[in-house]
Amino acid sequence: MSPFQITRTLPEDATDAALRADVLQGLTTTPKTLPPKWFYDAHGSELFEQITELQEYYPTRAEREILRDRAGEIAAAARARTLVELGSGSSEKTRHLLDALTGLHTYVPVDVSDSALTQAGQALVAERPGLAVHALIADFTGDLALPDTPGPRLLAFLGGTIGNLLPAERADFLGSLRALLAPGDALLLGTDLVKDERVLVRAYDDAAGVTAAFNKNVLTVVNRELGADFDPAAFDHVALWDPRDEWIEMRLRSRTGQTVKIPALDLAVDFAAGEELRTEVSAKFREEGVRAELAHAGLELTHWWTDRAGRFALSLSTVR
Ligand SMILES: C[S@@+](CC[C@H](N)C(=O)[O-])C[C@H]1O[C@@H](n2cnc3c(N)ncnc32)[C@H](O)[C@@H]1O
Repeated sequence: MSPFQITRTLPEDATDAALRADVLQGLTTTPKTLPPKWFYDAHGSELFEQITELQEYYPTRAEREILRDRAGEIAAAARARTLVELGSGSSEKTRHLLDALTGLHTYVPVDVSDSALTQAGQALVAERPGLAVHALIADFTGDLALPDTPGPRLLAFLGGTIGNLLPAERADFLGSLRALLAPGDALLLGTDLVKDERVLVRAYDDAAGVTAAFNKNVLTVVNRELGADFDPAAFDHVALWDPRDEWIEMRLRSRTGQTVKIPALDLAVDFAAGEELRTEVSAKFREEGVRAELAHAGLELTHWWTDRAGRFALSLSTVR
């Protein structure tokens, strides 16, 4: 195997069909929604990297602190020969794990963002001549066909991205992760924790407006891919905390009454003034909840680490 291999598990037109289906479904129901995976074209992935460097966006720094401090313990517990990372993006924090996993044979980053995977994969093989990188362009919520690589496997899902799934989707998803694991494999899961509402809202509504640009990028993606005529300036970025569900919601609020045309779907979508389109949910967690959700999927939480300020957690779990 060459040191860097990239496999598209979905044909290009499947991505297109999935976008059409999501936009049709999401913009013709009330309230309107779009799934967050469509933020991440090349520009959206770049904007996300900028978000991770914002003073207000603590999750990346907090998770990096845990990885830096605990990578040795994680590696000793997992003894992985294959590291699979879902929603790997730039794989930047993953380097702590790659350093610590001394017996590692293959790294399998999985992401919908072709550009992020290509950049990260090429950089990693240049930095680490002994490492095989087999990147998968895939939707991690679909059926994942992982390459045949040596076990044990460590399946990492970092960044708190699990919080973007709704509770029922999360249960299905954790069940599908459990099905990918054999005895001796482990799951490393990053979860952002419930905390002061002001800290949470600021993390999704930064002063420089980078998160607002990231949120509006989904409109640009729909314009480009489906010929729509969304005017991003006609929508306001909204981030709010829902204390009942314990999640942040990102929304786009229409500044005026307007009709948006989406020619590829032969669709015209009316927005009332002030109407909101939900673009992301980001659930925040507590230890007991994570433990229970993992147990429900047949996984046993064996380690729980937080950063020193207690903002973010990494958990390790194994097949029960
Ligand atoms: C919040 S970012 C986290 C990136 C990185 N893991 C980190 O911690 O900085 C989410 C990542 O998951 C990817 N992603 C989102 N939805 C996805 C899906 N359904 N399937 C595969 N990748 C997805 C995005 O392209 C992005 O790279």
